[in-house]
Amino acid sequence: VGGLLADALGRPLRDLRISVTDRCNFRCSYCMPKEVFDKHYTFLPHASLLSFEEITRMAAQFVRLGVTKLRLTGGEPLLRKNLEVLIAMLAELRTPDGEPLDITLTTNGSLLKRKAQMLKDAGLRRLTVSLDALDDAIFQRMNDVGFPVADVLAGIDEAVAVGLGPIKVNMVVKRGTNDHEIVPMAGYFRQRYGASVVLRFIEFMDVGETNGWRMDDVLPSAQVMQRIHAHWPLAPVQATATGETAERWRYLDGQGEIGLISSVTQAFCRDCNRARLSTEGQLYLCLFASQGYDLRGLLRGGASDEDLQRALAGIWAQRQDRYSELRGAGALPASPGGRRVEMHYIGG
Ligand code: GTP
Ligand code: 5AD
Ligand code: SF4
Ligand code: SF4
Repeated sequence: VGGLLADALGRPLRDLRISVTDRCNFRCSYCMPKEVFDKHYTFLPHASLLSFEEITRMAAQFVRLGVTKLRLTGGEPLLRKNLEVLIAMLAELRTPDGEPLDITLTTNGSLLKRKAQMLKDAGLRRLTVSLDALDDAIFQRMNDVGFPVADVLAGIDEAVAVGLGPIKVNMVVKRGTNDHEIVPMAGYFRQRYGASVVLRFIEFMDVGETNGWRMDDVLPSAQVMQRIHAHWPLAPVQATATGETAERWRYLDGQGEIGLISSVTQAFCRDCNRARLSTEGQLYLCLFASQGYDLRGLLRGGASDEDLQRALAGIWAQRQDRYSELRGAGALPASPGGRRVEMHYIGG
């Protein structure tokens, strides 16, 4: 059931990532560099955002086609007003087998201390927090708005306390910028939380067109693993789900596990079952796509649920995206078809 739908490379549709705002209160240079996203930058006007009713209706159609996991992203999703209302609406959806969905959210953690309990009460199942350094000076430089790391750490404490765990913490590693924080981060989270927090290291990726990506800035995950292994021996863990982004490793002393997300050195497009819905209702089939499909037009043009499902199935059936794999093989077309979508617009 639902497993019948496959794209042109045989991949099912399982994971829908929904961006609920293109705004963020951070200016991480790899995502929303200050020079570009300054006071002259125009964010989306309210009328062009999908409403909670529109998001929920759209999500319901995806669920009919096989989606079992929803991830809310941004920008910073906790900046969207009354987000807990949307979470409660999504929590009512059921798969064709009658199962509730796996509903999660990716946040920068800045508003988490205040909102964790409310998110949990609304029906959020789990949570991912982005955190690139423990050292306050490095963290403030990376978020580029002077936001103190202590507030994010307090947010993580609160999220664990209200039972949103096991929490994932994502660290984007940039060589020369925060790679010295790898071992301290691993030490802090394993010591403080053990298995209640899974720290994951993400290779800096060439998403979008504004982050000045260079291969020299990428520290391959294999080296991240070596550095941690030298302090606290690790062993590989079998993947639990197909299409998982992270390769899992556990500490031999039982203090939990880490994940390595290696989209640059080891692409994972082969099983990619993720679709992305932008804040204004464009459907993207890849993090590196230049073009989306306008679902808001269909929604607001009076399409029935069946019309929406037919359109989605048609779009997914012809999907051939596998950007990271092609880049890794040096096989990208010389002139890719237009500007690639930006991370703050499409979420992670
Ligand atoms: P879990 O079910 O919690 O493991 O979620 P996940 O790993 O699917 O989601 P998460 O949002 O935590 O992904 C972590 C990071 O991996 C993102 O922030 C992106 O940087 C990267 N990532 C996620 N999905 C993709 C993808 O499809 N392609 C590429 N290249 N990178 C991705
Ligand atoms: N490379 C890798 N990860 C990135 N993220 C944002 N931009 C990049 C990039 N260029 C991550 C953030 C967060 C999630 C939303 O995406 O750190 O974990
Ligand atoms: Fe905001 Fe996350 Fe982008 Fe940083 S990575 S600017 S926190 S959306
Ligand atoms: Fe999926 Fe595109 Fe990422 Fe490959 S590059 S894993 S196809 S989103």
